[in-house]
Amino acid sequence: MPESKVYLPHERVTRGARINSIAEYQAMYEESVNDPEGFWAAQAEEMLEWKEKWDTTLEWDFEKPHVAWFKGGLTNASYNCLDRHANGPRRNKAAIIWESDSGRSKVYTYQSLLTKVCRFANVLKDHGIKKGDVVAIFMPMVPEVVTAMLACARIGAIHTVVFSGFSAQALRDRMQDSGAKAVITVDAGKRGGRVIPLKAMADEAMLECPTVKKCIVVSHSRATVDMQPERDFYYHEETRRRDISNDCEPEWVDAEHPLFILYTSGSTGKPKGVVHTTAGYLLGTALTTKYVFDIHDEDIYFCSADVGWITGHSYIVYGPLAIGATSLMFEGIPTYPNPGRFWEICEKHGVNQFYTAPTAIRSLMKSAPDAPNEYDLSCLRILGSVGEPINPEAWQWYYDVVGKGKCSVCDTWWQTESGAHMISNLPGCTPMKPGSASLPFFGVQPVILREDKTPADIGEEGRLCIKFPWPSMLRRMWGEDSEKRMMDNYFGQFPGHYFSGDGAVCDEDGFYWLKGRVDDVINVSGHRMSTAEVEAALNSYGDVAESAVVGYPHEIKGEGIYAYVVLNDGVEASDDLRKMIIGHVRKDIGPIAAPDFVHFVPDLPKTRSGKIMRRIVRKIAAGETDKEGFGDLSTLVDPSIVDTIIETRPNQ
Ligand code: WTA
Repeated sequence: MPESKVYLPHERVTRGARINSIAEYQAMYEESVNDPEGFWAAQAEEMLEWKEKWDTTLEWDFEKPHVAWFKGGLTNASYNCLDRHANGPRRNKAAIIWESDSGRSKVYTYQSLLTKVCRFANVLKDHGIKKGDVVAIFMPMVPEVVTAMLACARIGAIHTVVFSGFSAQALRDRMQDSGAKAVITVDAGKRGGRVIPLKAMADEAMLECPTVKKCIVVSHSRATVDMQPERDFYYHEETRRRDISNDCEPEWVDAEHPLFILYTSGSTGKPKGVVHTTAGYLLGTALTTKYVFDIHDEDIYFCSADVGWITGHSYIVYGPLAIGATSLMFEGIPTYPNPGRFWEICEKHGVNQFYTAPTAIRSLMKSAPDAPNEYDLSCLRILGSVGEPINPEAWQWYYDVVGKGKCSVCDTWWQTESGAHMISNLPGCTPMKPGSASLPFFGVQPVILREDKTPADIGEEGRLCIKFPWPSMLRRMWGEDSEKRMMDNYFGQFPGHYFSGDGAVCDEDGFYWLKGRVDDVINVSGHRMSTAEVEAALNSYGDVAESAVVGYPHEIKGEGIYAYVVLNDGVEASDDLRKMIIGHVRKDIGPIAAPDFVHFVPDLPKTRSGKIMRRIVRKIAAGETDKEGFGDLSTLVDPSIVDTIIETRPNQ
């Protein structure tokens, strides 16, 4: 653990903060873990509106695994995010401020967003979408993506948002796995001045998705698209129909009714559909938004994530809207038209809380280290970080140059599966140690275990597990064999515990230091990729015999993708082939999965039982060339291959 400086929250953050002493945090934390059911029941009463109260607060059995919160309670996520604000003093408050790629902005009040959601919910119903149906959403950061998600929630349909940077094939796989009945997309997306033909990609995907009967297209770029009669409809035409009403009674669903499926990468095989349910998820996101970002009614909050990832779901849409906040969403990228774009947005809208990923921080720190000084950032109070451990250098720049030493940097550790923040400092009270996500959120009970399942000592690295359920946790995997897959992925390794896949250390102050994934998941620019998935894409290329993919340290991305490729007999390695192979992966999964390196090798280091010795290929990818540090190589079929790989390693 690095010896680190400790920063206390600045007085201007502490002053109005909901929790401004560590003793207060500790007291509330104790309460939340000593009587979790009592704590969460009280929060559920306070934070959410219910049509009918629940029968049982919690059912759980991590051995099975089975978890249910607030069963028997009836509620609706869109009602909680919209109606209760629109019917009160926040009626004319901005719910969403949308900032476009080109610098235009639009404001949607709670009242206007509610009307849009109701109209679109009625359109979906009119097209035959019912409670429990799955609707795929393949959209970039346009305001209608929020409308689409909340309209699904309103009628009890389950949305599955597919990141708009994914390929047609990736969309197809997710629509097939989820059995989607409809897809909502846009004619074309715009990002950093580029145009991405999303409708054409959805068309390609739909060719192999017989369950998808309807496609609703938001006209965003005025691009010409093919519209198939009876199947494809324009969003603006449908929502403006005279027979569509402004009102739509929410479908009151059980607390445990699925709200959405989000596909994420695991260590093996295809992406898995993580299922989140209505009340627990909404409660977890609402409570963390309230305390971690300490959002007050007059604040403007900006999360720069894409809605295609869990961060966008929880901290652009559900968490902020559940507490009646103003959530700013941005269509573009941080470096277009220049690397001052984020700071310009913060100045333009007077942003108070800004939430982004270390990869963005590092890239802006590198390309324009002084850019924040050119803007008035005096409104900023809280600077959030998410997606990977933040390196102390990036932390320092964020704190000093963006925050002027007067903001709290909140390092939030959590996952798609956790739904909401799990470990994070609270801005008004927790001392900050750069690089540590610090202390658990209310109700979260982390433990660090050794591989032999005994608890690790203070200062000893182990596996980060959670020993008690929390309301926003995943409930199951979409599709067949959910229980088995839940065991294989999360609950089987350390019986009685949820295993996060991350390594971590806890220091003598109880602060957690995250050490990255210990499984075959790599974290590229804060995006989760499974090495197995990239390997499957590489192996499906005709000339490739086999491959091994590992992460390697990358200055900006955190981790880059390094692919070892063995070609079929008789195939010559060449730069052209390298480009073709990379292009193939882009098409198969999407640009985020494109390897940074393709290293052609004659063979891979394999043990006699045929397993690739991953620690070796990882070390070589990381630039290690001294075999002394490689450990025992005697179980390899052909130890000399290690020398060949080292010698042929391309220069970075
Ligand atoms: C990593 C993103 C260290 C971690 C919300 C986790 C982090 C994975 C942090 C989940 C952080 C996320 N410090 N590591 N503050 N935040 N991670 O599902 O490895 O896309 O397991 O969810 O990101 O990625 P996911």
